Amino acid sequence: MTKIVAIDGPAGAGKSTLAQGVAAHLGLERLDTGAMYRAVAWYALAHGIDVGDAEAVAEMAGRLRIEVGERVTVDGDDVTAAIRSAAVDGAVSAVAANPAVRATLVEQQRRWMKERGAGVMEGRDIGTVVLPDADLKVYLTAGTGERARRRATERRDGRSTAEVESDLARRDRLDSTRSHSPLVRPQDVADDAVVIDSTGKSADEVLEEVLRCL
Ligand code: CDP
Repeated sequence: MTKIVAIDGPAGAGKSTLAQGVAAHLGLERLDTGAMYRAVAWYALAHGIDVGDAEAVAEMAGRLRIEVGERVTVDGDDVTAAIRSAAVDGAVSAVAANPAVRATLVEQQRRWMKERGAGVMEGRDIGTVVLPDADLKVYLTAGTGERARRRATERRDGRSTAEVESDLARRDRLDSTRSHSPLVRPQDVADDAVVIDSTGKSADEVLEEVLRCL
């Protein structure tokens, strides 16, 4: 029986929609680990901490109480909308490249799964680093243009598709070239991962493809 599902892939590939669908189908909870990195970046920006100051950010991340569920809270403050801002998009990859921040959040992510014994987790390094023993690993991708169009429609924050596309491309570059737990290319994913390119496919089609692997 599939109890632990890992979904990885680049920005805007549709991981959250897929994770929701898989979690609902299996009757499991889901954890969006990107929201945790975003929460740390949001806190640094809100408190004037330089995201390039690795020590200060690491120390801060270790003290924060981050809860990710229907809502995202940091030390009790609801930051669900705030963590999706363009400013956070701009700062999050630097925070995510910080090995000490990753160590703190990965430990929390593993604890989340251990407490439940089952669940769906999405991010960049879930099948490779956080949960290498997951029952099902999915690597979800899509063409950059399509990912940017989807993200621009979802955000509606005044940014053009071209601006969103350049942010996604910049983050993909930073996320895949960092030295700790980088986002891997589809051709380099773990042998046991199912690679799905969602370009031109509806959310339902992608979900059905994944459910066939269960
Ligand atoms: O939703 P989107 O695809 O834009 O990204 P996200 O999943 O919210 O993640 C935001 C950022 O957090 C990514 O660009 C990565 O820098 C980082 N991240 C990571 O390094 N490892 C994870 N497991 C999840 C996110």
